[in-house]
Amino acid sequence: MAVGIFDSGLGGLTVLDAVSKRLPEMPFVYFGDNAHAPYGVRDAQDVYELTTSAVERMWAEGCDLIILACNTASAAALRRMQESWIPPEKRVLGVFVPLIEALTERQWGDNSPPREVAVQHVALFATPATVSSRAFQRELAFRAIGVDVEAQACGGVVDAIEDGDLILAEALVRSHVDALKRKMPNPEAAVLGCTHYPLMEEIFSKALGPDVKVFSQANLVADSLADYLERHPVMAGPGQKSMFLTTGDPATVSNRATQFLRRKIEFEAA
Ligand code: DGL
Repeated sequence: MAVGIFDSGLGGLTVLDAVSKRLPEMPFVYFGDNAHAPYGVRDAQDVYELTTSAVERMWAEGCDLIILACNTASAAALRRMQESWIPPEKRVLGVFVPLIEALTERQWGDNSPPREVAVQHVALFATPATVSSRAFQRELAFRAIGVDVEAQACGGVVDAIEDGDLILAEALVRSHVDALKRKMPNPEAAVLGCTHYPLMEEIFSKALGPDVKVFSQANLVADSLADYLERHPVMAGPGQKSMFLTTGDPATVSNRATQFLRRKIEFEAA
């Protein structure tokens, strides 16, 4: 049994960390497309081609179920993949659905018709590609009625985090929160819709103020994956080995990943 976790780069390690803690016996194959990151400024066709090729690579490692930890890939490529590309015996799942199920207080996998929910004003922080896809609003509309979503494309934040410039990242987060609040002064909930933003969660929370509930993905994805595998145990594929694959330079990516997760991580060439 093994499950694949895909991200454009290192940000998905926040999800990998949470799923490995939640499912300690499960081998995970992590694929970071570092050579082509960031995805957040690419067009949908580009994101689709890169994501499908990474997914094929993880299938080859015996992962029948792949989680797209990358919000940009979930937003810009997943629907097209599910409609016409994924064979019936494989699954590729994204990160928006668990988040929206938590936001709308649904059970995992509850596909009943949309209904009124407690939150009515939601701030979405994400990459430019995720925001322009409107995938979050589309998935939300399947589950909830009357929720107003204001999206803020957080240009520059991912690059600043990847470059290790946390002072710049913090300043950018504050200015993106200010910009959002000018459009929606009193959101009840905020969604951190990008793999990298959990690293800035405290800054988002402080800038948003104590009345805003902040939804961050890693633990929600872990809980919903555990529940999914309980319902569909056969989807844990035949792979046996945990591994870290990258399209970038394995030595450089391993160093960054080790700093990121504060434990030794060794990537190999994809
Ligand atoms: N992993 C991407 C996401 O969650 C952020 C990094 C990128 O732009 O590639 O949207």
